[in-house]
Amino acid sequence: MLQGDVGVELGRRVAVALRTALGVEITPAEALVRPSTREGVDYQCNVAMSLAKTLKKAPREVAQAVVEHLDSADLVEDPEIAGPGFVNLVLRREWLEEQAAGLLGDDRLGVATTESPRRVAIDLSSPNVAKEMHVGHLRSSIIGDAIMRLLRFAGHEVIPHNHLGDWGTPFGMLIEHLVDEGWKAGSEAHSISDLNGFYVAARKKFDADPDFVERARLRVVALQGGDEETLALWRGLVEESTRHFEKVYELLGIGLTSEDVYGESFYNPFLADTVAELEAKGLTEVSDGALCVFPPGFSNREGDRLPLIIRKTDGGYNYASTDLATIRYWIRDREVTDLLYVVGTPQSQHFTMVFAAARQAGWLTDQHAEHVGFGSILGEDGKTIRSRAGGTLKLVDLLTEAVDHAAAVIAERTDFDAAEQARLAKVVGIGAVKYADLSNDRERDYVFTWEKMLAKEGNTSVYLQYANARIRSILAKAGEVPAAGAPVTLTEPAERALVVKLLGFPAAVDAAIDAYAPHKLSNYLFETASTFTTFYDTCPILKDTTSPEARASRLVLAQLTSRVLVLGLSLLGIDAPERL
Ligand code: ARG
Repeated sequence: MLQGDVGVELGRRVAVALRTALGVEITPAEALVRPSTREGVDYQCNVAMSLAKTLKKAPREVAQAVVEHLDSADLVEDPEIAGPGFVNLVLRREWLEEQAAGLLGDDRLGVATTESPRRVAIDLSSPNVAKEMHVGHLRSSIIGDAIMRLLRFAGHEVIPHNHLGDWGTPFGMLIEHLVDEGWKAGSEAHSISDLNGFYVAARKKFDADPDFVERARLRVVALQGGDEETLALWRGLVEESTRHFEKVYELLGIGLTSEDVYGESFYNPFLADTVAELEAKGLTEVSDGALCVFPPGFSNREGDRLPLIIRKTDGGYNYASTDLATIRYWIRDREVTDLLYVVGTPQSQHFTMVFAAARQAGWLTDQHAEHVGFGSILGEDGKTIRSRAGGTLKLVDLLTEAVDHAAAVIAERTDFDAAEQARLAKVVGIGAVKYADLSNDRERDYVFTWEKMLAKEGNTSVYLQYANARIRSILAKAGEVPAAGAPVTLTEPAERALVVKLLGFPAAVDAAIDAYAPHKLSNYLFETASTFTTFYDTCPILKDTTSPEARASRLVLAQLTSRVLVLGLSLLGIDAPERL
């Protein structure tokens, strides 16, 4: 059975044909084999148009050479040339039948494991201590988790790191407020029910009371000086915040634990060396009392060079110095080949400048560093989403509301007991929030509407979950789950179309990985479920009129569709229940 994408395999064959016919070397990707939108054609090869000029030949002549030398009779019917020089490729029925039958025995549903595994450090979630996670952190967690699952499935090593905002001057104020609230260092008995409320109260005091400001200042000095009692209080605050975050991860089904926390404080011991190294390499300049790097190519509208401040006028380090130390650590000490940062697009300039400075310093060389940015979530009024009261939205509230909405729908199903209803409400509600996020191009903003997100029709997780449950129920009624090797016979166009779609799974997974774009997988899953619906409408499975041969074959297609949906959704971090 073929491992990987059919289009890539065809590209490989076209490359061989061109080498034999015309002595040109191209890669399979350069063969430009694309799924065709033309009725009755599966793939179209556009290489003749792109090569004609360099070969000084008419495109149709190049196409002719491809067609004459293409060794692919096992895979496709005799290729035909169309228009100016497109080569139309139609997959052979027997080949499709064999592939579908083979797929049944393949856990990976045709997705190959990478031949060049990488070690990827991915920065995701990264909320701030003593503040609630906001929707930006929600997106980072959901998108980051999906990318992590996709990369791991492809065979890469992925190390998540949660870059908690857990260090810096605000901690003087926060710790003093803790002390006022009666916290004792090292005591387990404390908790903060409302993180944002805590932060706001500390801030209020700080703005109103000069004595408190002085205490906060001394506290920062004590924290940075490593004072034991202060550190213990600080640790208590970090742990209490982390407990809040872990509740959200648990609810979201995101596998981030305290072991993945590499907060800003983690890099604190490396900051002085990091900055000293930049100085020693002659990359720094003092500007307005601050130590700066000026990576080439960054300027403002007036044409002035833009600084990346790495040590403030008061001698303190900052967000940028910490991120430089982060890159240096992951590349030098952890030997990663890729650094991904799943962080909102407003920070895009920060990351491009940090990457540029890290390149100048020689820390970032042939590794791949990328800011995987994302847009905001908008309310139905088109503005950044807010709570009903108008304040910033608490993430836990949003997720709880999602589960409540789903529960209201599932309550109609009296055939499930209360425990099962509760379990399904969570799977459906949380799945809907995640899917709404992942099915949109991450770089765009999207509007959050309960109605759209929980709709049973359209590109939603609910639709996919129902589609899968419907297939499971057909298989249950049939009383048999097709075993590996069960023969597939394709007579109807809708059967053929479904198999072609199912064979597109590896290409969809690859596309989602290549662009760190989970929506490319979700779009594919939606198309697959729709293609199944068309198939099921025209090709009855369990009717008396269906021949035993067709019934067996269609059960295989149903089973494969369910497996594609379940595996695909799991790569997005979404569950698909057997019954719904
Ligand atoms: N804590 C930051 C925020 O809430 C995000 C950190 C992103 N990661 C990083 N390495 N800078 O905006």
